[in-house]
Amino acid sequence: MESAMTSLATKEKVLEENRRVHALENRYYLPRHPEQTNFFQNAILDRTINEVCAALPPGAKILDLGCGTGYLSLGFLSRGHSVTGLDLSREMVQAFEEAIPAALKPQARLVVGDAEEFLSQDQEEYDVIVLSAILHHLFDYESVLRQICARLSSGKRLLVFFEPLKQEVQSPIKFALHRGLSWLDEKFYRAEMRLRNIPVLEDEYHHSDYQRQFGGIDPTRVEEILQGEGVVVSNVEKYCARRYGFHAWLANRVLGTQNTFNLLATRP
Ligand SMILES: C[S@@+](CC[C@H](N)C(=O)[O-])C[C@H]1O[C@@H](n2cnc3c(N)ncnc32)[C@H](O)[C@@H]1O
Repeated sequence: MESAMTSLATKEKVLEENRRVHALENRYYLPRHPEQTNFFQNAILDRTINEVCAALPPGAKILDLGCGTGYLSLGFLSRGHSVTGLDLSREMVQAFEEAIPAALKPQARLVVGDAEEFLSQDQEEYDVIVLSAILHHLFDYESVLRQICARLSSGKRLLVFFEPLKQEVQSPIKFALHRGLSWLDEKFYRAEMRLRNIPVLEDEYHHSDYQRQFGGIDPTRVEEILQGEGVVVSNVEKYCARRYGFHAWLANRVLGTQNTFNLLATRP
């Protein structure tokens, strides 16, 4: 059990490393992460945003915590909604700002800061709070989830998207195939990054991807926390993300493996 002082120091280190790594990622973030933009993942992204938007009034308010370069936010903005995008990294926020078409800029409010701090100070009410690939970067994701629940009034929703799935290995053969495909996927990826002159930041991620050392995020635990706060989970989607769309297709349609999840919840 970590002492309070050690916890605080680790939390600071996680924040500091996230700032450092994402300053390097900046506008290269999405080109460096083709697993978020290949055809397979794009179809999931589009479908998810459409599903969330189907139940929203025009001009709804979205809060995207850890918005990065606008992966989900740009989709909400282009569908006519207002977005508050909050991110720890000034460089990521700047890259997001540059990516917003001029006509949509009035719908966007961009803030640089820590999610936990922002949630404790900001007073706005949002129709949807979005977390895309941020929970595993947090020192205490459970506490952030509870803070979010406290902000959701009746009918308001939470979307957790593209988180690394923590799970038990169920079949050694399936796991071996999963690892084999992952190896191939990474080989292609590294060759492509070399060809495109985009440096890969592998050694930088140790503390910034803090929850990965515990195996990722367990959606069952997320559900427990939300339930405890009176927020109801309506959908959990588990699937396998890969750098390349064809590999993702193979993993999902042939191997049936999983390494990622999305979750949608509502305050009744
Ligand atoms: C993996 S990126 C995901 C970005 C974007 N949501 C996406 O899906 O493409 C994680 C983002 O979370 C941000 N982040 C990490 N820790 C944070 C914190 N404590 N508060 C706010 N943002 C944070 C990082 O700066 C980074 O932009």
